[in-house]
Amino acid sequence: MDKLPAVLAMIEEQFTVSAEFMRDIATGFQQAMSAGLAGKPSSLKMLPSFIGSPTGREQGKVIAVDFGGTNVRVLLVELAGKGQANIIDKRSAPLKDRSGNYDYTSAAASGSELFDFIAGKISEIAPAGGTYPLGHTFSFPCRQDGVNEAVLISWTKEIKTTGVEGLNVGQLLQNALELRGVWHVQSLAVINDTTGTLLATAYTDTATSIGAICGTGHNSCYLEPCHPLTSQPMIVNLESGNFDGIRQTEYDILLDQASEKPGAQRLEKMASGQYLGELVRLIVNGLTTDGHISKSSDRLRIPYSVTTEDISPILADASPELNAVANLAATRWGIQGLTISELEAIKTAALLVTMRSARLAAATWAGVLFKIDPALSRRHTIAVDGSLYEKMPGYADNLFKAMAEIFGDKAKQVTIKLSKDGSGIGAAIAAATVYNAR
Ligand code: BGC
Repeated sequence: MDKLPAVLAMIEEQFTVSAEFMRDIATGFQQAMSAGLAGKPSSLKMLPSFIGSPTGREQGKVIAVDFGGTNVRVLLVELAGKGQANIIDKRSAPLKDRSGNYDYTSAAASGSELFDFIAGKISEIAPAGGTYPLGHTFSFPCRQDGVNEAVLISWTKEIKTTGVEGLNVGQLLQNALELRGVWHVQSLAVINDTTGTLLATAYTDTATSIGAICGTGHNSCYLEPCHPLTSQPMIVNLESGNFDGIRQTEYDILLDQASEKPGAQRLEKMASGQYLGELVRLIVNGLTTDGHISKSSDRLRIPYSVTTEDISPILADASPELNAVANLAATRWGIQGLTISELEAIKTAALLVTMRSARLAAATWAGVLFKIDPALSRRHTIAVDGSLYEKMPGYADNLFKAMAEIFGDKAKQVTIKLSKDGSGIGAAIAAATVYNAR
């Protein structure tokens, strides 16, 4: 008897996040926020940014560095005030060369090599004859003692570069700039990419309360109305990817155990683009091992042999023959000749994994709203950037639907919007804020 439908139903049950479950997660998240803010044990780091909401009047030409872990982008941004930001010039380079010439993310690379590479990109873009403030988006958990004092706590997203953890990344960049003789650029602010996303949207929309990244990594920040350190409004980086209040499936456990840092970043490993492809592979591999899918291959057993980008065409595939799924199985795993129900099983795995990701993210945002405005008495904008939100078919819709399930009618108070280039523009706004306050 064909057991595939029954097995799939069991997998579906494990990955389903009901409305009630989302509300429970939100409540747990809210409690973890309060504990973290009060300095009690919590999986949420609640890292202060020492920066509040922008006024929209920040002005000037600023260099922004956006270091996310896959690429480094350097922008020359003109802030015109009145919420207007224009990117005048930009450079982007991968941190890992596809042809294998360099890899600044591996344990063989040092922090000074990495920051020298970034300084090189900055020198290409900083026009001679002026001085430029620099804002640096560094998309990893940093302990901050001031807006320009950011010490990397630990790498995430499987990055392993040596000689950066425990050090002040603003200083590392400044040193690298000076070693290259780039004296006319001064690093003034280091922010998380979620903070950048929030700042860039808040530049034009004063209702912005949450900034989030749904991309290679996953994280959110929010505007705390009265921070215990300053009694002023301050953006707090939740490092919500580390939230541990969600039940793991057997696939999450397998993925976590084989990861660079087992036990860390549990939500991120369930929700971010770095891992969704691998979760799909683990499900499909389990189905072949147990004989529910008839064909297998050695390549299917290679971790991360399918990426999250590979999943997008599968989700969009409405062809009766499921061409995109068959193509993925053939090109990534060398598996051909699967039946339609086997191909459907692979598509179902992709749908379940991505839908769960969106619903978990939405549940954590609901947790933030439970904390700052439980009655949803005013409008809230959630600014989001990242490849999942922007490009994954159905992802943005799933977020929106999840919010409606959690809040019912009141969900109309909540707007989720794309903060395109937000992490870069936000870095420029942060640097301009510091520069103008001097
Ligand atoms: C990092 C966060 C970052 C997120 C999105 C996570 O791995 O810990 O600091 O905001 O990725 O880039």
